[in-house]
Amino acid sequence: MSEVKHLISPLDMSTDEIASLLKLAGDIKKDPKKYSKVCDGMKLATLFYEPSTRTRLSFETAMINLGGNVIGFSDAANSSVAKGETIADTIRVINYFADIIAMRHPKEGAAYVAAQNSNIPVINAGDGGHQHPTQTLTDLNTIFSEKGTLSGLRIAFCGDLKFGRTVHSLIEALVRYPRNSFILVSPPELRVPDYIREDVLKANGCKFTELTKLEDAIPDADILYMTRVQKERFFSEEEYIRMKDFYILNKEKMALASPEMLVLHPLPRVNEIAVEVDEDPRAVYFKQVQYGVYARMALIMTLLGLSL
Ligand code: NCD
Repeated sequence: MSEVKHLISPLDMSTDEIASLLKLAGDIKKDPKKYSKVCDGMKLATLFYEPSTRTRLSFETAMINLGGNVIGFSDAANSSVAKGETIADTIRVINYFADIIAMRHPKEGAAYVAAQNSNIPVINAGDGGHQHPTQTLTDLNTIFSEKGTLSGLRIAFCGDLKFGRTVHSLIEALVRYPRNSFILVSPPELRVPDYIREDVLKANGCKFTELTKLEDAIPDADILYMTRVQKERFFSEEEYIRMKDFYILNKEKMALASPEMLVLHPLPRVNEIAVEVDEDPRAVYFKQVQYGVYARMALIMTLLGLSL
């Protein structure tokens, strides 16, 4: 089983492999039609034990664009999980049906367990508050395509840095490129987990600051990565209500930013970006969705060892 390539953490790919993937994604963007038969006769299984709109549909679109087919479920209550089936057993069964799996699960480590029991590639489409490596590929594709580099950037992350798995994965990916520095903007209760501060940022010798005011971060940022407060991971409703509108990016705050600063957001947006910001050319969060499809097309091809 060890020969099969999986994507469980962003670190499962070297920076060279990421560079090749982004190159492929760029080529797909230029001429998607060229790739429309690459996965002819193949199947992607999307196993979503947790709500999703974008990620699941983005995977399905990616596979269909490559000429493949899709099976799966988007509501675990309608699958055998409701009867008590383990992840290991579900994965063994899906191995007979599909060529590749994209799985989202509320428990940290679930995708890893799936990979251990799979002879076909498993892609982690989000495991609890832990990792979301394909959102990271989406984000890297967006940054690389729009900025032309993944190095020497000042990246501000704002919002729920504690539970936001997209934040954890993207920081882990970006510390591997030279001269990146980080501005971490959150309420004190929602700071990044200790392991990100100690084992990722400090261990890689990266410059970073932690702030509570978004206004203080904006003037210095090349990238502003906004995030939603992760309601579903809070222990109490009152705590969530207290935090949910802590940050709202609006036109007034955008006026503090450089003309080249880009605003990213993994979506869904709740209140943290006012709709008035959408028309700002620096707001690339909807464009990011398109970059995500190309990144996932490139990933499916890479894990299945396919080329034109
Ligand atoms: C993110 C996620 O699921 O972690 N969404 C996504 O995949 N685009 C971010 C979020 O839910 O806030």
